[in-house]
Amino acid sequence: MGDPHGFGDGSLTPFVEAIWTATTPIRFAATWQPHVMTVVRLPAARVLLHSPCRPSNALYDAIAQLGTVSDVIAPNWFHDLYLDAYRARYPEATFWAPAFLKRQRPALIDRVLDSEPPASWSGLLPSVRVAGLLTFDERIFYHVPTRTLIVADLLMNARATPDTPFFTKLGYRLFRLDGSLRVFPVLAWFGQSRRPAVRAAARAMLQWNPERLIVGHGTPIAQGAAAQLRAALGSLA
Ligand SMILES: [Fe+2]
Repeated sequence: MGDPHGFGDGSLTPFVEAIWTATTPIRFAATWQPHVMTVVRLPAARVLLHSPCRPSNALYDAIAQLGTVSDVIAPNWFHDLYLDAYRARYPEATFWAPAFLKRQRPALIDRVLDSEPPASWSGLLPSVRVAGLLTFDERIFYHVPTRTLIVADLLMNARATPDTPFFTKLGYRLFRLDGSLRVFPVLAWFGQSRRPAVRAAARAMLQWNPERLIVGHGTPIAQGAAAQLRAALGSLA
């Protein structure tokens, strides 16, 4: 797969033991962004996919090398892209999403993220929900063995590259996306980032004290994530 915008070629990339990422470009409000999928290897050769990115046969083949896909997670309302393709590819897997998405797409989503996760990953991947923010309903995960926080849209750390198209550069300037970790700018604009649900999630994330952090739109942070998280959350926590 090509990478015309410098935001990912969709290849499966090792991140840390038991976690990989795959990134493909996605268009949002006239800008291009990286869309990061997190792939977690679970016990018993099972594989969990978080926030699926645009699939390809090469990506499916690479995932198959890791094990059998048992769970696919749409962490918020907006990350339901490509789910139809993944559903067709992994008919046996359990598909998870917020309640709204399950109501909208009952045939696609098996379980609501508020329900009890299966024993195969409940202890490995505790989570916190950020609910009650307009249309924003996201579940944030923490992979205990590798101290990796996995966020979809609440935090961003994208940056423009030399290949970035003009309007994307403009949008990033407007969003103040310069490669440092930030709370999703639109939440802040609407005064939503100070809501109790965000503050509770902020405290939970800092208590986990993550070493690593993967965001849905941006470059994964391989070390020292807690300090960047503290700086991004500021007085919210
Ligand atoms: Fe997103």
